[in-house]
Amino acid sequence: MSKDVFIMGIESSCDETSISIVKNGREILSNVINSQISTHEVYGGVVPEIASRMHTEVINLIMKQSLKEANITLDEIDGIAVTYGPGLVGALLVGVSYAKALSFATNKPLIAVNHINGHVAANYITHKDLEPPFLCLIISGGHTYLVNVKDYNESEIIGKTKDDAIGEAFDKVARVCNLGYPGGPKIDNLAKSGVPNINLPISHLENYNFTFSGIKTAVINLNHKDPNINKADLCASFENAVTQMLIFNVEKAINEFNFEKVVLAGGVSRNSYIRKEFDELSKRLKVKVYYPDGILCTDNAAMIASSGYWEYLKGNFADLKLNAEPGLKL
Ligand SMILES: Nc1ncnc2c1ncn2[C@@H]1O[C@H](COP(=O)(O)OP(=O)(O)OP(=O)(O)O)[C@@H](O)[C@H]1O
Ligand SMILES: [Mg+2]
Repeated sequence: MSKDVFIMGIESSCDETSISIVKNGREILSNVINSQISTHEVYGGVVPEIASRMHTEVINLIMKQSLKEANITLDEIDGIAVTYGPGLVGALLVGVSYAKALSFATNKPLIAVNHINGHVAANYITHKDLEPPFLCLIISGGHTYLVNVKDYNESEIIGKTKDDAIGEAFDKVARVCNLGYPGGPKIDNLAKSGVPNINLPISHLENYNFTFSGIKTAVINLNHKDPNINKADLCASFENAVTQMLIFNVEKAINEFNFEKVVLAGGVSRNSYIRKEFDELSKRLKVKVYYPDGILCTDNAAMIASSGYWEYLKGNFADLKLNAEPGLKL
């Protein structure tokens, strides 16, 4: 039996400071998450400067807490994995600088992780037997991708959004409905008491691409015309329409490429209506559908440690020249 590998994951790309220890890429020993949501809530969205400052204030405490909860010493860690993009540049720099300092001081290998690969890797923790290849629908706050995951951290983009990310659309719709920030969970809750009886535009683009700006504008206009419109029905109709857009492309890809496994990733994959509809798709097309555990859908460092583990096995290490890449692509 080969030796266990313990990876420390560090995540600070947006408004969560998180440090986690993960064993062999799949088992969480600790996953400490300090969310700044309550601070940013009053502004209706993340304020980048405040986010960076708050990361610097807590990151060292979070690291100590994470080691303590995992009951492990820094000495026993095999590698330090850090999100280096995409995200807010100032926020990313806090995590990257911290990881580089820690790597230098402890002489442990530094591993650069793409945050989006992290969202995919959340599934390797939740589903111990899940292995590539599979079709993955990444629906997060800032990204919407349909990808063919060929190997760990290696994917080919099949489709993507041409305008807004789906999470942005959720957050914007929640904002115009006065539900607060972040909007996704609020829409999820309110929609449960509504009926999808409002007509909204459902767009299908060529080549598995997505567009969410039309539906977002339609919701804004409906609210503008009738501020008393039933918000629960509006949220249910919005969820129903975007889910139809997602399912249309996923079904097309399953039929064309014969995928047997469909994996959802990113904050929006926590949505209960989307999960229900994908469960139906699973039965109808006889494909297996996977989602991460709720807490692993949104930003956390366990998913970064898991993604980093597969790079550790390949010996793919970064050096101290590593920089934050806010616009990093998949
Ligand atoms: N239950 C839910 N239903 C729909 N959306 C949700 C739900 N829970 C969280 N979200 C959405 O998830 C997003 C936040 O998580 P996520 O990690 O995907 O975003 P991010 O890190 O800001 O963006 P990215 O990962 O693309 O850089 C927000 O847009 C939020 O509204
Ligand atoms: Mg994210």
